[in-house]
Amino acid sequence: MKRLNIAIDGPAGAGKSTVAKLTAQKLGYTYIDTGAMYRAVAWQALKKGVEHDNRAIAELACNLDLKLTNIDNKTNVTVAGHDITEAIRTPEVSRLVPKVAQVGELREVMLKLQQDMAKPGGVVMDGRDIGTRVLPHADIKVFLTASIAERARRRWQELTAKGYSISLAELEAEIACRDKEDCEREIAPLVAAPDAINIDTTNLSIDATVASILELHREKQ
Ligand code: C5P
Repeated sequence: MKRLNIAIDGPAGAGKSTVAKLTAQKLGYTYIDTGAMYRAVAWQALKKGVEHDNRAIAELACNLDLKLTNIDNKTNVTVAGHDITEAIRTPEVSRLVPKVAQVGELREVMLKLQQDMAKPGGVVMDGRDIGTRVLPHADIKVFLTASIAERARRRWQELTAKGYSISLAELEAEIACRDKEDCEREIAPLVAAPDAINIDTTNLSIDATVASILELHREKQ
């Protein structure tokens, strides 16, 4: 079997990480969560109180001792050996990350790191600019979408299960705001690559979504 690279992009809550993880698992590929990388920088910027300082954010990225490890279908994230897997998923970090992700120098650092990670082949990488910028020659490109109501419902379930108290309406407004920031930024905005396959997951199960990506993979063999 040829080890291909699969790019999965889409807005928040479209199911990218779940689908990407399962696809990688089925194929024996490496899953790379690029959102976690941007979240790690946002988390560190908050911790150091430099979240409004673009130069400091770029510097953080250059010196980031970041490790992503996939264990039991979960991506563990450490910075300098410190486990921040849960800390990067707080609503506070989610609100900040699209602002941090607009810093050009930070994106350059991430671009290089992510391209290096994909060099051996056999990766499933999810994010916002994978098919358009990070892996423009990816063998398979998928753009996952879902209605905003459904995406908010999924995030609400996730967050309430973790004990956060947030209303569905609040979450929907936050997701809409994050999408707008990601779609309208100057560098590497969220947009489907012209050659990406669009999959709307509003009424599609995770298994069915994974199955359609595996079918695309079979066709490319
Ligand atoms: O995928 P996730 O929701 O964890 O991503 C968090 C944020 O990181 C996105 O809203 C976006 O601002 C940023 N991001 C990005 N480019 C990527 C992945 C994530 O700008 N490739």
